[in-house]
Amino acid sequence: FSAQRLTRSQSLALTSHQNSERTRRHHGPRTARQPRMLLLFALLAGAAAAAFLVFKFATADGDFTLLSCGRPRRDKVDGKVVWITGASRGIGEVLSMQFASLGAKLILSARNKEELERVKRNIISKHPDSKVEVLPMDLSSDEESLKEVVHSAESLFSSAGIDYMMHNAAFERPKRGALEETEEGLKATFHVNVFGTITLTRLLAPFMLDRGMGHFVVMSSAAGKVPTPGQALYSASKHALNGYFASLRSELCTKGIKVTVVCPGPIETPVSSGATSSSQRHSSEKRVSVERCAELTIIAATHGLKEAWISYQQPVLAVMYVVQYMPTIGCWLMDKVGAKRVDAAAKKGNAYSWNLLFGGKKSA
Ligand SMILES: NC(=O)c1ccc[n+]([C@@H]2O[C@H](COP(=O)([O-])OP(=O)(O)OC[C@H]3O[C@@H](n4cnc5c(N)ncnc54)[C@H](OP(=O)(O)O)[C@@H]3O)[C@@H](O)[C@H]2O)c1
Repeated sequence: FSAQRLTRSQSLALTSHQNSERTRRHHGPRTARQPRMLLLFALLAGAAAAAFLVFKFATADGDFTLLSCGRPRRDKVDGKVVWITGASRGIGEVLSMQFASLGAKLILSARNKEELERVKRNIISKHPDSKVEVLPMDLSSDEESLKEVVHSAESLFSSAGIDYMMHNAAFERPKRGALEETEEGLKATFHVNVFGTITLTRLLAPFMLDRGMGHFVVMSSAAGKVPTPGQALYSASKHALNGYFASLRSELCTKGIKVTVVCPGPIETPVSSGATSSSQRHSSEKRVSVERCAELTIIAATHGLKEAWISYQQPVLAVMYVVQYMPTIGCWLMDKVGAKRVDAAAKKGNAYSWNLLFGGKKSA
């Protein structure tokens, strides 16, 4: 009986072994195929994602964080007081119009009062309910004069105080080599772009701190992020602003003060007195429209971004990414471009062309 049981259990074990062997043989190739299919699927998905990202990057007009934010947030602007410097033309004029369309109360500043009144009339004709005040000022004036301007701005709209300070005004000289710049050019650039802007901030911030809220939006430049041959002074002034406002943010962010630094590349402004004037532009330079630049700036501000880049990758946006994340390679690339870009600017050629990098000749 015991021998019989042993034999039966042995035969059972044998049958089960045969079964499992059969199962292994039957399913073996399929289970081996499955990981290969999964790998293939993962590779295809990866390639599709990479192609999508390359396409998005090739057609982007801003950095990825900025473009992922969506639309400007009206709830952050409606009824708020927005003070815009450099509002008499260019980006500042369009910013003013777009802020008005979102329900903001506006204070428009620049030196030219007539132009500011023109901008005000335009805004009111398009948005009859808007509240707009004109406050002429010269950013290169002394501290006492700027203090008076700040007090005037704070007293407007029943002393509501400034919610957004849009530091947009700037002085830009025609492109030329760093050593061709003059003492007069150095002072003119830094008095407006750096000293005036910082002094205005230092005078206004205490009012914001008293209220426990306020937002500085600084119109810097791609030139404030990367070496900019042919615009050394302008670039230095924008780097200075980036340094100051990033430091200010870290000191005051826990006290209700926000800072957004916007770094546009070439923008298609209609008429400008600075180096970006249309007469000095090359027709093949691909520029972001001034309306889109203003819209992206308001998106960056109302979504509370700390920094935003606005440009096509032509190659400005691409260079910004390389210099930011791979500075050694970025500076090596800029060294290849430097002298050729100064030369191209002098000959009114395209100062933003890939040819500067890959072309053999000095001129574009
Ligand atoms: N356009 C571009 O391609 C580009 C690219 C990157 C960054 N950005 C930056 O974007 C901002 C606007 O550029 P934009 O092209 O629109 O400039 P823009 O057309 O040259 O206008 C400059 C504005 O600043 C005002 N301004 C100049 N000097 C002033 C002073 N001493 N005191 C007060 N206001 C003064 C001007 O008005 P008054 O002459 O009446 O004073 C004008 O309203 C600037 O900060 C610029 O650096 C522009």
